[in-house]
This record gives sequence, structure tokens and C-alpha cells, in this order.
Amino acid sequence: MSTLILVLVVVVGVAYIYRHIVVKGKRCTSKAKLHGKTVIVTGSNTGIGKTAAIDLARRGARVILACRSRQRGEAALEEVKRESGSNQVLFMPLDLGSLASIRSFADTFLKSEKRLDLLINNAGVFMQGQTQDGFGMMFGVNHLGHFLLTNLLLDRLKECGPSRIVTVSSMAHNFGKIDFECLNTKRALGTGTSFMEVLQVYSDSKLCNVLFTHELAKRLQGSKVSCFSLHPGAINSELNRSTSSLIVICLKPITTFFFKNTVQGCQTTLHCALQEGIEPLSGRYFSNCTVRDVYAKAKDDAAAKKLWEISERFSGLA
Ligand SMILES: NC(=O)c1ccc[n+]([C@@H]2O[C@H](COP(=O)([O-])OP(=O)(O)OC[C@H]3O[C@@H](n4cnc5c(N)ncnc54)[C@H](OP(=O)(O)O)[C@@H]3O)[C@@H](O)[C@H]2O)c1
Ligand SMILES: *[C@@H]1O[C@H](CO)[C@@H](O)[C@H](O)[C@H]1NC(C)=O
Ligand SMILES: *[C@@H]1O[C@H](CO)[C@@H](O)[C@H](O)[C@H]1NC(C)=O
Repeated sequence: MSTLILVLVVVVGVAYIYRHIVVKGKRCTSKAKLHGKTVIVTGSNTGIGKTAAIDLARRGARVILACRSRQRGEAALEEVKRESGSNQVLFMPLDLGSLASIRSFADTFLKSEKRLDLLINNAGVFMQGQTQDGFGMMFGVNHLGHFLLTNLLLDRLKECGPSRIVTVSSMAHNFGKIDFECLNTKRALGTGTSFMEVLQVYSDSKLCNVLFTHELAKRLQGSKVSCFSLHPGAINSELNRSTSSLIVICLKPITTFFFKNTVQGCQTTLHCALQEGIEPLSGRYFSNCTVRDVYAKAKDDAAAKKLWEISERFSGLA
């Protein structure tokens, strides 16, 4: 009996320590204050975008919540103001699944705001479908929308340097590939709809995020703008909203124990946004608040350039 209790205590103890060290991960330790700085966070009405926005607002930044739903955006606005104790928080509508909406957001922003010090490309979807312009949903929202947004805001970021562009990717990019043939013919990275097929296309879109950052850093050489991509960790968020409830329930024991909460989940984003002295690492990929090496395919110069050019064409920039 007492042995059983001992075993139980040890198991619970190990589980507790595991959750509080490994799952929780590193925290962003930067004490940077952001008074007088302006920040945009896309997809900040929920998940790690919202917790990052709260942290940045607490540090004194003027924070623009760039979200697609007015209702969800305005509800988050109240929460971010309340939680941060700041009134320097604004909602501006941005649907990354519509090139027109992105252009209109950029117009409004550039006309009404003087500065841009930090752009956080955080929004993401895990679902198939099509954007308003007929692109695959995950290619369109996760990559192409942020590609256009970043390019439209680039001059302002350059004027305000030192400034940063942080793009939230995923370790799923390790499983990604870019089928340029499919992109050219179907304007999507893949069209399957089973869970595994959606996961594949999601991973592909996250590889686009890493390659985009790789190419962007080259184009930003000599400017005072640096850029980073990152894996935030596995997080309990609303990213599962389009996943079948059977799969969500089956994964529940794993996600409950092994996944981070959204405060833990925004730490690497904050690290890339705030940590002093990481500018020489521009273009690199971070995880657990640490720079990481990536596979050759995620720093492939030719693929990154090709993706950039096709994205320019698709988004109407070229
Ligand atoms: N959760 C994880 O385990 C995990 C792991 C690795 C990487 N990531 C990445 O982390 C980022 C944040 O994800 P999360 O976990 O916080 O997910 P989340 O809770 O689902 O939040 C995603 C945010 O993106 C917004 N969004 C979706 N489509 C949009 C569009 N067309 N235009 C503008 N905003 C849009 C959502 O807005 P609505 O509320 O209106 O839908 C929501 O605010 C994503 O890029 C995701 O790929 C997450
Ligand atoms: C994150 O880094 C901390 C500190 O180095 C370490 O203890 C933890 O296990 C790491 N977590 C992950 C998921 O890599
Ligand atoms: C998604 O995950 C969250 C957190 O684990 C959970 O509360 C929610 O019910 C899940 N959503 C769906 C649609 O199953």
C-alpha cells in the first residue's frame, strides 16, 4: 500500500515538474518598454496574438489589433485594455483572406498612424477552403496575406528603424514542402481535405513563413529592419476550431497535458519582438526563445526567391 502511494507521489511529482519546466518553456526575459512605439498584431482577438498584445500594451506600446471580425475584435479590444491597463489600444479591421481588405487596412493605417515599430504576423488558420481571391485558405491567409501586408507597410517600418517583423510559423514547417506546380495551376499548396492532408498543407504554409522571412532578411540588408520567424510551441488555442470534434476529443489527453496555455505560448513571439541584440540573427527561426537551425529546405535561397516572386505576382505587387 505505502509503495503504491510512493509510486503515485513520484509520478505526480515528475508530471508536475515536466509541465512546469519542459511544457512551460522559457519566458521572454526582456524588460524593454515600448512607450512611443506602435505595434500591429494580426489575429489578436484570441489565442497567442491576444496574450502578446496584452503584454506589449503593458509595456506602453500603442497596439493595433488587426482582426477580421469586428465583433470579436471589439470584444478583444475591451479585454486587452482592461488586462493591460492601457488605453493605447485600437481595433482595425483586417481580413488576410482578402487582398482588398489588406490594402484597405494598410491605407487606413498609413494615413492615421505616424509610426510602425513592430509588425507581428501572427494570424493563422488550420483549415481548407478558399480565400476571397480564390487562393487556398492556408496559403492565402498564413502566407500570402502576410506577404502583402508586410510589403505594404515596409517603407514605414524602414522610416521608424530599428524596427522588426515577426512571423509566427510552426515546427510543422519541418514536414512542409512547396509544390510550385500546384501553386501555379491551383493557387493552393494542396487541395486534400482529410485531417492528414490539411496538416500537410498547413505545414507547407508554415514552411512559406520561414522561407519568406529568409528572403525578407536578405532584402532588408542595410536597413534598420530585422525579421524573425518562430515556433511558439504546441498551444491550447482556437486553432482547432475547424477540426472534427472526434479528433479533438481523441487528442484531448495529450493536449491537456503537453500543450501550453496562451501566455506561455506567446513568449517566443515576445522574445523575437523585444530581445535586445538579436538583430544580427535577422532571417533566422526561433523556438523556446532560442535561435534554431533549420533544415536546408527552410533556408533554400532558390525556393525562397521563387516563392517571393510568385507571391508578388499573386498579390498584385508585380
Ligand atoms: N496553437 C498551436 O499549437 C500552434 C502551434 C504552432 C504555430 N501556431 C501558430 O500560431 C499562430 C496563432 O495561432 P493560435 O494558436 O493563437 O490560434 P487561434 O487561437 O486560432 O488564433 C488565430 C487568430 O488568427 C485569426 N485569423 C484567422 N484567419 C484570419 C484572417 N483571414 N484574417 C485575419 N485574422 C485571421 C483568428 O481570427 P478569428 O478569431 O476571427 O478566426 C484568430 O484571431 C498561428 O499562425 C498558428 O499557425 C500555433
Ligand atoms: C525550453 O528551454 C528550457 C530552458 O532551457 C528547458 O528547460 C525546456 O525543457 C525547453 N522546453 C522545450 C519544449 O524545448
Ligand atoms: C479546442 O481546444 C480548446 C482548448 O483545448 C477546447 O477548449 C475547445 O473545446 C476545442 N475546440 C473545439 C472546436 O473542439
